Amino acid sequence: TRAGLGKDFLDLLSIHTEELKGLLRLAAQLKAKQRRGVPHPLLPGRMLGLLFQKPSTRTRVSFEAGMNQLGGQAMVLPMGDIQLSRGETIADTAHVLSRYLDAIVLRTFDHAIAEEWAREASIPIINGLTDLNHPCQALSDLLTIQEKKRRLKGIKIAYVGDGNNVTNSLIEAAAKTGMTIAVGCPPGYQPNRGIVDRAREEARQTGAVIEIGADPLVAVKGADVVYTDVWISMGQEREQAKRLKILAPYQLNARLLKYAKPDALVMHCLPAHRGEEISAEVLDGPQSVVFDQAENRLHMQKAILVRLLGKTSQTRRT
Ligand code: CP
Ligand code: NVA
Repeated sequence: TRAGLGKDFLDLLSIHTEELKGLLRLAAQLKAKQRRGVPHPLLPGRMLGLLFQKPSTRTRVSFEAGMNQLGGQAMVLPMGDIQLSRGETIADTAHVLSRYLDAIVLRTFDHAIAEEWAREASIPIINGLTDLNHPCQALSDLLTIQEKKRRLKGIKIAYVGDGNNVTNSLIEAAAKTGMTIAVGCPPGYQPNRGIVDRAREEARQTGAVIEIGADPLVAVKGADVVYTDVWISMGQEREQAKRLKILAPYQLNARLLKYAKPDALVMHCLPAHRGEEISAEVLDGPQSVVFDQAENRLHMQKAILVRLLGKTSQTRRT
């Protein structure tokens, strides 16, 4: 029998490789059904809660739309409207919401907050981005790369700019699927050390290669995919001036893109800042697949919901 997803979805390294492959297959099936207008009400009567401590367009709307397409419902819980904002504990809130809801998507700051929710809630907690990682994004990006390149193993993905939550999850995704990931980020802005170490352990099983450096040209050379993300993530607004200066040489522009393969994909999780981490010419250019990436959030997250809720919550209810 296939190993399951576990109760929660907080990161990619803790997913079994077979389960990850299953999610990619299921997401592709759900995408085909959605596109053909074939109903697929796999989660009737289920209720998803969405709790965001940072802004969101894609994560919020794709989870809400996806849950509806699966025959369930989603409920956004604005931080300012719930008692958590007046000092009710995470533990008490998690215990109460576990009695009403079937799963929660959480977007927060410190990753330890998401882990506390996962410990306290009896229902699945889905990581909708923390300061440490963004697993829903990276998993959806695997679907996009597979669709465009027809494979994952052996593909070289270059990441340039700020080594942030998106970078960390891409490293985990590469480690799991046998890709090569080459990171070019300035010193002090490199991806999480602990994640890189754990990903390298995983890479021994999958044949992945994880190269962490500071030179964007070295990273991008011969890449099949070139990825970047904002220089100022949510919560880092006070560091703006310093970041704009240090990260300036890392802009993904036409000059840098020339070092990649001629048919390299340009990827960005969005929202983007044209003229900062990426030039308008490249973001809006023919190699960019950023809107396919955004669409695939919907299909992949539906697959995650089906896997987490399809069986576990029935078991829980009987
Ligand atoms: N890429 C992403 O997670 O976008 P949102 O912040 O709009 O959810
Ligand atoms: N690194 C960005 C991603 C936004 C989807 C942030 O954390 O703000």
